[in-house]
Amino acid sequence: MKVTVVGAGNVGATCADVLAHKEVANEIVLLDIKEGVAEGKALDIWETSPINLYDSRTVGSTNDYTKTKDSDVVVITSGLPRKPGMSRDDLISKNAGIVKMVTEQVIEHSPNAKIIIVSNPLDVMTYCAYLTAKVDRSRVFGMAGVLDTARYRSFLALELNVSPKDIQAVLMGGHGDTMVPLPRYTTVGGIPVTELIEKEKLDEIIERTKFGGGEIVKLLGTSAWYAPGAAAAQMVEAIVRDQKRIFPVCAMLEGEYGMKDIFLGVPVVLGKNGIEKIIELNLNDDEKALLEESAEAVRNVMGVLDNMNVGA
Ligand code: NAI
Ligand code: 2OP
Repeated sequence: MKVTVVGAGNVGATCADVLAHKEVANEIVLLDIKEGVAEGKALDIWETSPINLYDSRTVGSTNDYTKTKDSDVVVITSGLPRKPGMSRDDLISKNAGIVKMVTEQVIEHSPNAKIIIVSNPLDVMTYCAYLTAKVDRSRVFGMAGVLDTARYRSFLALELNVSPKDIQAVLMGGHGDTMVPLPRYTTVGGIPVTELIEKEKLDEIIERTKFGGGEIVKLLGTSAWYAPGAAAAQMVEAIVRDQKRIFPVCAMLEGEYGMKDIFLGVPVVLGKNGIEKIIELNLNDDEKALLEESAEAVRNVMGVLDNMNVGA
């Protein structure tokens, strides 16, 4: 198995490091446009292998896609991160140009790869990669829900003083402030969360989750990388090991949830073929309204792609 991570910045390098620890692939290629950065980080990660006891080879490349040839999975993290005061959407046209260019190279050298997008604004960048790649929707999707539910679950674990391992949750919608955590589908050791936390506190945790990305930006002056890198690596693992994991993933909707022609976070089954199934939950009217509001926010950003001729 071979996995490529494009963008050897904070998220990409963390993702490669987690993948190496998990021994998910024999070869992990890290590629960046900045001279020497990917080689340096890949070498640094490789030098931890005798300490951390793994044998996945990590290889760096400065924009040479021949080294990524025939990758089974490619994670695209290249782009600019969000700075304080900058919304995810401010990044759009700059990152769309980068994602388009990178996807063209990825598809040329790894025509059968599953492609996971991380670059922001996530839902629209995933659409951009899908239009560029021109492959089945099961093979191009975005990482956001795994991160956003991880934040939600980690906050619940703190509040309840229980292991995060026992918290299961579903979160839908776009990767932005309109994301939709679903308390009705949140359980703690099999117990509905609504039986364990009063509504006011749960609402506070949901609000904190929605702004979880911004909370880190405010603290660090740039966006998060440990949780995003680990989240992308967990998706890679599900595909490479054909685990059939159920994760919230940014997927192209073709009628599911009554929506078409939009990438949005929904629960899916992730396995060796990429998205093997989109799970349709029976949302109540309030949940449907929140999802529609989130879709509207994504559609508003998508307009920028129309002027870029991405699919041409
Ligand atoms: P970073 O600035 O640390 O790394 C980005 C890397 O991309 C840089 O090393 C840069 O040289 C590289 N790059 C730029 N253009 C490139 C090109 N054409 N080809 C190859 N490499 C190129 O940024 P960081 O923190 O790693 O974030 C990366 C992206 O991921 C950002 O857009 C950020 O907003 C997004 N993000 C998304 C999350 C999600 O949940 N989907 C979570 C966290 C970050
Ligand atoms: C995050 O949620 C900024 O999308 C990035 O951390």
